[in-house]
Amino acid sequence: PEGDYEKGKKVFKQRCLQCHVVDSNATKTGPTLNGLIGRTSGTVPGFDYSAANKSKGVVWTRETLFEYLLNPKKYIPGTKMVFAGLKKVDERADLIKYIEVESAK
Ligand code: HEM
Repeated sequence: PEGDYEKGKKVFKQRCLQCHVVDSNATKTGPTLNGLIGRTSGTVPGFDYSAANKSKGVVWTRETLFEYLLNPKKYIPGTKMVFAGLKKVDERADLIKYIEVESAK
C-alpha cells in the first residue's frame, strides 16, 4: 500500500520520535533518520552503532524498511534498538510514506 502521510506523521510521533529525529542531523538515542532512504545501514558518521547494525550492509528503501519495521530484532539480530515492531501493514506503509517525504527535505 502507498501509505498516508498524515497518519504516518502520528505514528512517527507516537513510536519513533522519542529516539529519532527525521528533520535534522540530531542524534538522540538513535541515529538521525534524515536522508535515510538510499542510505546504507549503520553509516551515520559519529553514531555508536551495534556491530550488528553496522555490519548489516543493507540499503534502506521502502522495501527493506517495510521488513525491518515489522520485527527489527529478527531483521537485525543483535540490534540495540529497543522496539517491538509494527505488525499492521497499513501502519508501516503510512509511517514509511511520512519518512520518505521528511527524510528527503
Ligand atoms: C536504528 C528506524 C524506533 C532506537 C534504527 C534504524 C532505523 C530505525 C531505520 C537503522 C538506522 C541506520 O542503519 O542508520 C526507526 C523507526 C522507529 C524507531 C522508523 C519507529 C517506528 C526506535 C525507538 C528507539 C530506537 C523507539 C529507542 C527506544 C534506535 C537505536 C538504533 C536505531 C538505538 C541503533 C541500533 C544499533 O546500532 O544497533 N532505527 N526506529 N528506535 N534505533 Fe530506531
